[in-house]
Formats: sequence, C-alpha cells, structure tokens
Amino acid sequence: MRPDVAIVTGAARGIGAAICKRLEAAGWRVAGLDRSWDDDNVHVPVVRETVDVTDFDAVRNCVSRIESGIGPVAVLVNNAGITRDAMAHKMNPRDFTAVIDVNLAGPFHLIRAVLPTMREHAFGRIVSISSMNAQRGQAGQANYAAAKAGLIGLTKVVALENAARGITANCVAPGFIETDMTAAMRGDVRDAEIARIPAGRIGAPADIAGTVAFLASSEASFITGQVLSVNGGQLMP
Ligand code: NAI
Repeated sequence: MRPDVAIVTGAARGIGAAICKRLEAAGWRVAGLDRSWDDDNVHVPVVRETVDVTDFDAVRNCVSRIESGIGPVAVLVNNAGITRDAMAHKMNPRDFTAVIDVNLAGPFHLIRAVLPTMREHAFGRIVSISSMNAQRGQAGQANYAAAKAGLIGLTKVVALENAARGITANCVAPGFIETDMTAAMRGDVRDAEIARIPAGRIGAPADIAGTVAFLASSEASFITGQVLSVNGGQLMP
C-alpha cells in the first residue's frame, strides 16, 4: 500500500492550518507540527506534535514517532515561517540568523528526516512555501527574502537528487495572503499592498492550500523543481 501520511509544519494557524484541512479532505492522514498550539486553533489535525523546526534532533525524533505511530511519510509541507523585518543597514544580525534558521534550516531538517523513508518507498511529495518577496525582493526583508530564495535553491537540488526515486520537490510562492503574519503589518502599508493586486483582493489561506494539494496529488507527478506563484497576478516572474 502506498504511504498516505502527510507532515505539515507551522500547522497551528494561518496557511498551515488551511493546508492540513485541505490535505485531509484529499484523503491524506495529516500530522501537524508547530512550536506552539492554542486552545482555539481553527483546525486540529489528526496528529498534533509540538516541535521547533530549528532543532534537528527534535525534528528527527518527531518524524520517527510519526512513522512508527501512523506510518511512513509520503508528503512533507514546509510551511513554518517567521519574519523579523528591518532595513539591512539596521538589521540585528541575530534577526538575520533567526529567520534563516526557521525559514531555511528548518525545511532542510524536515527534508533530511523524511527523505530516507521516501527513497525507500520510491514515493514522495515535498512542497515548501517560499514567497513572492524572494522572487522580487522587498525592502526590510533581507533575512526573509534570502531564506525564501535559498529554499528555492534547496528545492531544485532535492528535486534533481530524487527525481528518479518517484519523489517530487516544488515550491509555492504566495503573494499577499490574509493571516496573522499580514495582519501584523501597519494598516496603511497593508492597504497599499492590497491595492496593487491585479485580482483586486487579498489571497486566502485556501488559495495556497489548494495549490499544495494539487502538487501533492498524482496529477502533479511530472512537476518537479518548480516554483508555482499564487499571487493574484501581482508578480509574473
Ligand atoms: P503565521 O505566522 O500565521 O503562521 C506560521 C506558523 O508557523 C505559526 O503557527 C508558528 O507558530 C509556526 N512556526 C514559526 N516558527 C516555528 C518553528 N521554529 N517551529 C515550528 N513552527 C513554527 O504565518 P502564515 O502567514 O500562515 O505563513 C505561513 C507560511 O507562508 C510562512 O512560511 C510564510 O513565510 C509564508 N508566506 C506567507 C505570506 C502571507 O502573506 N501570509 C506570503 C508569502 C509567504
């Protein structure tokens, strides 16, 4: 039987919670990982693990627990991410490293932990959430754009190394999506950003979740090493 377990990081809210819900609807058994969970989580996946993606040993133990508890991992969605914005000439180097640790080293830790099983079963779908701001640059986000662009490079290498083993690796590059991350922005900056979206609206977490579910599906088996932009036409790279 083909493995049917999906791991989603940053699953407690926002885009990650929407991805869990959508993958469950598509028949995957979902293990959600997050560094913290609130009681009012909008969606609770079948398995809920508390783990910090920056800690490789913790990630490796968590993946082993999932594999021995519910089965081999078929799908990995690297969604956990943070921002620590500041202009490059004022950015605290600790904030640079913190964003690289979560947004780039974190996905590597997960990929490193799931690949041996995926290779053994000759099946895997790895989807990593990058960003439009990695494709175009964004003032104030030297750390974030570097990490999210690095994620695209990492994805291409993993795609090449594992293509012959039935494993695909792709990125989704969201534009401006309505979550806690964007709600934290200054109101006028947020409104100006929305006014620049050709589709005339902010994106919904479900817009990203649907794309991830497609990339995880059998219809997408010949798509690998790609970056799929989901941004309402705001950037056409
Ligand atoms: P969010 O801030 O609402 O949720 C992120 C989740 O990741 C949180 O539940 C948080 O606890 C978890 N997380 C953070 N650090 C972690 C760590 N070290 N270990 C485990 N979990 C951790 O963010 P949102 O908006 O849902 O974003 C999800 C992904 O989409 C992120 O990678 C973000 O960079 C990316 N993205 C978001 C966009 C947007 O407009 N909201 C646009 C482009 C990309």
